[in-house]
Amino acid sequence: MKDKLNKIEEAALQSASVAASEAELQQVRARYLGRKGEITAVMKGMGQLSPEERPLAGALANQVKDRLEAAFAERQESLRQELMQQKLANECLDVTLPGRRRRRGYKHPITQVTEEIIEIFAALGFGVAEGPEIERDFYNFEALNIPKDHPARDMQDTFYVSEDVVLRTHTSPVQIRTMLKQKPPVRVVAPGTVYRRDSDITHSPMFHQIEGFLVDRQVTFGDLKGILTTFVTEFFGKNVDVRFRPSFFPFTEPSAEVDIQCVICGGTGCRVCGQSGWLEILGSGMIDPEVFKSVDYDPELYTGFAFGLGIERIAMLKYGVNDLRLFFENDLRFLKQF
Ligand code: DAH
Repeated sequence: MKDKLNKIEEAALQSASVAASEAELQQVRARYLGRKGEITAVMKGMGQLSPEERPLAGALANQVKDRLEAAFAERQESLRQELMQQKLANECLDVTLPGRRRRRGYKHPITQVTEEIIEIFAALGFGVAEGPEIERDFYNFEALNIPKDHPARDMQDTFYVSEDVVLRTHTSPVQIRTMLKQKPPVRVVAPGTVYRRDSDITHSPMFHQIEGFLVDRQVTFGDLKGILTTFVTEFFGKNVDVRFRPSFFPFTEPSAEVDIQCVICGGTGCRVCGQSGWLEILGSGMIDPEVFKSVDYDPELYTGFAFGLGIERIAMLKYGVNDLRLFFENDLRFLKQF
């Protein structure tokens, strides 16, 4: 009996010492001290011993049991310690390492150029107005003196939502909305998104314009020239030449397009300016009396000028970007440069 207990004890201690986790140690404990364990079995078998031997054997078995309990507890403690050390080693954090920098965001170049234009006009006393991108025929065409059969209404150019509703093809309808709300004097720029059925390297079905107009008593074409020349030299630099070229728009009379000296070749002629040395940057003119009639301004009392320009186009010229689509792909390598 004594031998048997010693052997079991030895085996149990051995198993406990190689148990690699608390779970394994639990199994070892069950194998020896559990209800169906080996020590328990020996104790149960003591009934067969003689009454003299029984107390002795019982005491012996209890000692073994106590020693094993102590050994298991000790092993358990040291496994816990090991696990803790391991965790401390693996999960350590070097608080002295430099932090990871967050990448800084940038305003989109179109937003930057829009804000720059607004600022230049703000310094000249212009406020900012906005209008809806889904627009009624009346504001987008009719009130701007673009009658039903005008080529600008061609299905090629306009996205129709319904017979009477379009995606605005320009920011000019904001002129109408503003004038219907406000009496002269008005001095406003209106930036925004516009839509046309057009798509290639220089055209996108969605692009941006900024509209501007000024109405007061005795506004002349000289005021138009003065304001727009100031704008161009502020935006492109003092040494860029500007010219006003006669043109036509249904909502202005007379009308003029504004050209700047080609920023690529400096005016000598290149592929970008079609060898002319000039680049068209905006449309403008004196607001047509017909437009004043549709907003109930008295054309005998008031005159005004208006202009509209494409923001992508002007941004391309300013930064030498040769493909319009770059502005809409949102590749960070492109956007980061502005
Ligand atoms: N709305 C015109 C366009 O989209 C641009 C324009 C031309 C606006 C002349 C004006 C203007 O206000 O006077 O092509």
